[in-house]
Amino acid sequence: MGRLKRLSPSLINLIAAGEVIERPAAVVKELLENALDAQAQHIKIQLKKAGKALIKVEDNGIGILPEDLPLVIQRYTTSKISEPEDLFHIHTLGFRGEALASIAGISKLHLASRVPNYPWGKEILVIGGEIKEEREIGMPIGTMVEVKDLFFNTPVRLKFLKKDATELGHIYETVVRLGLAHSQVHFLLKSENRILLNLPPANNLVERISQIFGLKLAQKLKQREEEKNDIKIKCFIAPLEFSRPTTRDMYFYVNNRWIRSPFLNQVVYKTLEDIWPKGRYPLLVVFIQLPPEEIDVNVHPTKQEVRFKEPYIVQEVLGIAIKQALGESLFQEETLEGDIPLYPSINKDTGKISSQVKNFSSVYPQKMPMAEVEEIPFRVLGQLWGTYILCEVPEGLMLIDQHAAHERLNYEKIKSLYENGPSHSQELLTSVLLEVSPLEASLLEEILPHLQKLGFVLEPFGEFSFVIRSVPSFLVQRDVRKILENVLKDLYLLSKTSTLSDIVPSLLKSMACHASIKAHDVLTEMEMVSLLK
Ligand SMILES: Nc1ncnc2c1ncn2[C@@H]1O[C@H](COP(=O)(O)OP(=O)(O)OP(=O)(O)O)[C@@H](O)[C@H]1O
Ligand SMILES: [Mg+2]
Repeated sequence: MGRLKRLSPSLINLIAAGEVIERPAAVVKELLENALDAQAQHIKIQLKKAGKALIKVEDNGIGILPEDLPLVIQRYTTSKISEPEDLFHIHTLGFRGEALASIAGISKLHLASRVPNYPWGKEILVIGGEIKEEREIGMPIGTMVEVKDLFFNTPVRLKFLKKDATELGHIYETVVRLGLAHSQVHFLLKSENRILLNLPPANNLVERISQIFGLKLAQKLKQREEEKNDIKIKCFIAPLEFSRPTTRDMYFYVNNRWIRSPFLNQVVYKTLEDIWPKGRYPLLVVFIQLPPEEIDVNVHPTKQEVRFKEPYIVQEVLGIAIKQALGESLFQEETLEGDIPLYPSINKDTGKISSQVKNFSSVYPQKMPMAEVEEIPFRVLGQLWGTYILCEVPEGLMLIDQHAAHERLNYEKIKSLYENGPSHSQELLTSVLLEVSPLEASLLEEILPHLQKLGFVLEPFGEFSFVIRSVPSFLVQRDVRKILENVLKDLYLLSKTSTLSDIVPSLLKSMACHASIKAHDVLTEMEMVSLLK
């Protein structure tokens, strides 16, 4: 007898499911895409344990016919394409007839749906891909999918899931991606009893961006439409003052489908390379519209990658759109907190000064400047532009970036506190209330033990508030609320890419950055001397 065996259908299902569903956010993505393909106007998502225990999605779309309901959990059953031809003219988000089969294979699935013109709906209960119960029920028009105990029969996958805050971050991001492309649809995302995101129907993208990223940013948003041949690009970009330390808030859509694209990231990077400070990326939303035959979406199982037939035209049009959108603001100098461009304009001819200054220049989250600087006698001459300290040293004059210098000292101090324990914690005379967003609240709960190691004592106070009772003693005179708010913002952006075990170095760096003197802080001579000693 030969050694080859045909895999059983249930095993084939488990293997295939792994390609499509690698984490709870993938389930949310598939269920939201189905709801959108069904023309839903209201979509509600409810989570328990960051989707690991429950993901429930309810929509008011066109529903599933009762006779089709048992079929939708079978692999390769779809209402969206039927001919090979159709693959090249896809107008829906789904088309493979795979998602529900995959989800059903690795969870306990409850599916209920009712179409218009039918007085009642139908529901099925599926465990590990097998239908256990099937009956008619009374329900509103639309579809309800409940996914319980995801990966209950694939423990290895379960083990690889990240902490709740990380998984929640991925789900939040999934809703944002789809929410940006469907601004007229109402999305409501709830985790346990908290509303994480409520996006009522918006009239246009700027309104949707304001719901997600805030009014201040939306008011300053620049937009531009450009086209060439059959390629149309609509670009929305926030100016430098809203720039981010990562590429996470760059959203690209091809024919209204969100895609991950190192190629498009590179185009943005190249376009802004000479204009924006290094390590800063825009918040940007780009919609690329082109004939479906100009792209291949069937490149990756999750449909999140596409191949362009004419990448150079896309590159050219996007580059123009970004530059035109930014327009004049491109050439205006905008300084950022803690992100000060260096202009070693005095004593250019000595060369030494600029190289010394560079030793101190650092912009979070790039690497901390750890270059050894030898001790040299100095005399402080004054402060320049409220940003640099001008010193006389044996070789001439030296300019020191006050923020970078302070950040470096603070980093050393904070790192040692973290490693050696909080020997210098101090109780605040009046406690400080810290109010955070729902997502930041989950993140804060996760990093609380690390903050305690630094000497912070924080207690939950209501749903999205914390009371700060004690702080590390070097922060007593500082605005600790603002520092923690800024740190949480940084970490939130980073948590989308890192696991929490990676987050400690980022926490320390971010804390050092935000606890430091900023550009335009006026310093006394004593303060300057003690900073440089
Ligand atoms: N919320 C919903 N409302 C109406 N019909 C739905 C809904 N969810 C699923 N369906 C029906 O079930 C079918 C199977 O869904 P499934 O997500 O498995 O595949 P698909 O969307 O066709 O393709 P893909 O695997 O690419 O997502 C769909 O083609 C659609 O007819
Ligand atoms: Mg689908």
